[in-house]
Amino acid sequence: MTRRNAMLTAAMAAGAAAQSTAKKQKIGLIGNGNRGTVHLAAYLQMPEAQVTALSDLESSRMDTYNAKLGGGATKYTDWRELIKDKNVDIVAIAVPNYLHPEMAIAALRAGKHVLLEKPIAMDYASARAIQREAKKSGRTLAVGMQRRYMERDHHVKQLVDGGLIGPVRAIHIAEYRGDWSPKGVRFTDPVTGKSGNWRFFKRAAGSTELEFSVHAFSQVMQLVKSPLARCVASGATVHYQDHETRDVCEGLIDFANGARLNYSFCLFADGVPGTTVIIGDKGTLRYSDKGLLLDSPGQHGQAAPPATGYDSSTRPETQMYREFFAAIAEGRESALSAEAAIEAAKIAYAMEMAITGNRIVTAKDFA
Ligand SMILES: NC(=O)c1ccc[n+]([C@@H]2O[C@H](COP(=O)([O-])OP(=O)(O)OC[C@H]3O[C@@H](n4cnc5c(N)ncnc54)[C@H](O)[C@@H]3O)[C@@H](O)[C@H]2O)c1
Repeated sequence: MTRRNAMLTAAMAAGAAAQSTAKKQKIGLIGNGNRGTVHLAAYLQMPEAQVTALSDLESSRMDTYNAKLGGGATKYTDWRELIKDKNVDIVAIAVPNYLHPEMAIAALRAGKHVLLEKPIAMDYASARAIQREAKKSGRTLAVGMQRRYMERDHHVKQLVDGGLIGPVRAIHIAEYRGDWSPKGVRFTDPVTGKSGNWRFFKRAAGSTELEFSVHAFSQVMQLVKSPLARCVASGATVHYQDHETRDVCEGLIDFANGARLNYSFCLFADGVPGTTVIIGDKGTLRYSDKGLLLDSPGQHGQAAPPATGYDSSTRPETQMYREFFAAIAEGRESALSAEAAIEAAKIAYAMEMAITGNRIVTAKDFA
């Protein structure tokens, strides 16, 4: 073999090796609790994902995860060690909300791509700080709003974008559920000393609107496609005496293009079916136990045209990760970018300001 050919063969071998390693995304997962389990299940279905590191305060949780991974991941009780690990390219963060900004910013600064669970942050300034850091670092950040990859939301978006009901003028959403799972990790408020499930505390969760409603808001934003202009809201904790985060809430939100959202939730109405009605100039789409229904003048309760191109065999989280991996490979923003997450979270921030400040919140509050 000539020297040139030998060099070419070596270069090709190196290229092939690089390509095969490029196909494996090396992931470090911080937070091995309830939500982390769903991330783990997605990784286990993706040959292109390799979990190289885990971090949790509780070693036994990492052991449970690692057993499912065949024991190959390095375990860190200090998440700062995980983000320094050279065998990690992507940091996935699934910890209580109050930890999101510190961890996401540190991971971006360490040169990692970041998949951050929703909500992006508990306040607007911190959300923007994460976005700035993502831009500065040149790394890809995605926020875990996987509901956009669920068939129901995909279907509605497809029909609305296809013009079936004309421009969206109003959306009415009522959500009901029972109390939070008692399995959430305990949080001790550093100011009051009170302790309990982290979702009960404003300092740990932000608000119920951020923790729960942000999925609905994410769907609203991708249908309305216009920023928040004005918000009035009312809400309180009326049922669960040990919760700081609200258990009832109602909000009226106007968007810059004139569309409106009428939103409410109740957290002590377990089993009650929610309602989602999307009203356009030409018709209305609504979720029902019979599937997605279309109402138009003179024609009520028709089955909506079926969804096309949706892969129901691939779980939403896997679809989310695949888009994130593609964004990394192409050096572009993810569809679940900081901007997309902030536009959805803004409704929650606005409702919090409206309720606690007893006032009307407008776009100027976010200037
Ligand atoms: N996208 C969704 O549908 C969805 C659903 C549920 C939760 N979430 C989000 O996922 C996040 C986690 O929620 P969860 O339900 O898993 O909570 P959880 O209480 O079940 O688990 C949180 C985990 O984080 C660990 N943790 C806490 N502090 C840590 C630290 N400093 N370092 C390392 N690990 C730490 C805890 O030990 C625990 O294992 C939240 O941001 C929540 O909003 C998203």
